[in-house]
Amino acid sequence: MKGIVLAGGKGSRLYPITMGVSKQLLPVYDCPMIYYPLSVLLRAGISEILIISSPEHLSGFQNLLEDGAEFGVSFSYAEQLAPKGIAESLIIAEPFLNGDACTLILGDNLFYGDGVEKGLQKAIKSEGASIFSYPVKDPQRYGVIGYDKHGNPISIIEKPQKPASNRAVTGLYVYPNTAVEVAKGLKPSARGEIEITDINQYFLESGDLSVIDLSKSDSWFDTGTIDSLYEATDYVRALESRIGVKVGCIEEAAFLSDFMSIDQVAARAEKLSNTSYGDYLNQIVQSHGG
Ligand code: TTP
Repeated sequence: MKGIVLAGGKGSRLYPITMGVSKQLLPVYDCPMIYYPLSVLLRAGISEILIISSPEHLSGFQNLLEDGAEFGVSFSYAEQLAPKGIAESLIIAEPFLNGDACTLILGDNLFYGDGVEKGLQKAIKSEGASIFSYPVKDPQRYGVIGYDKHGNPISIIEKPQKPASNRAVTGLYVYPNTAVEVAKGLKPSARGEIEITDINQYFLESGDLSVIDLSKSDSWFDTGTIDSLYEATDYVRALESRIGVKVGCIEEAAFLSDFMSIDQVAARAEKLSNTSYGDYLNQIVQSHGG
């Protein structure tokens, strides 16, 4: 299982902020946004990760994360020349995947909770494709899942005027390698994008799609608007100050998945000394006898 973080796009809903900087490098509380999706992949035991972004922003991610050796993992990079759709990431990733299955996560999606971790473990073990749904107030803005009376998924409609449910498709997907060929066969939609909904629809129709329904006790934010960005920041800050949990700590995720040694965590803490992030890393080191 390999991982892909898709971190391109225009970020036009955050203009003028994102006119000069990548959305996924903006801070969500005390770390860059991309740390959150990366933590999800690392915590799921995925150590080979491809980061895709636009040609103008890719170097920012390379400067931030380098080759991953510091974290005991491997980060690779690829350009998406224009934001032609989320599903294009699978075509761009073909050489990196080299026949392997993948977990794709959007670079502006923040997940937290037991349901996410357990659901992802289950999805990674299964043969087919898996997507994750989350209850939302405004389903018209998302890909929405329709269910039959037994609760089985029967449709996925992108931004429906009359949503069949309040369950939105989130930006976390697990696919077998056949998804690459499916993506190559897709025609762009009316908005000129190769739609991830079409990939999900394909697996739904072939009976190979599992929908993992996250509950309200899990959290999902898509930080694409200024309000959702601030909401996510407030949430992360509250979790940290109330229960001492840091949501997007990639070192902790890599350490818990046995990719990173405690000495490597200590080296990062040293590098980030004089920051609250560094203090948190020091706590991890101390609690493990370092
Ligand atoms: P969106 O939020 O749909 O698009 P965007 O980030 O360009 O933002 P806006 O609508 O404000 O212009 O994208 C969801 C995520 O997927 C986000 O992390 C960007 C990424 N993405 C790409 O990297 N390439 C693409 O072609 C698309 C459509 C999205």
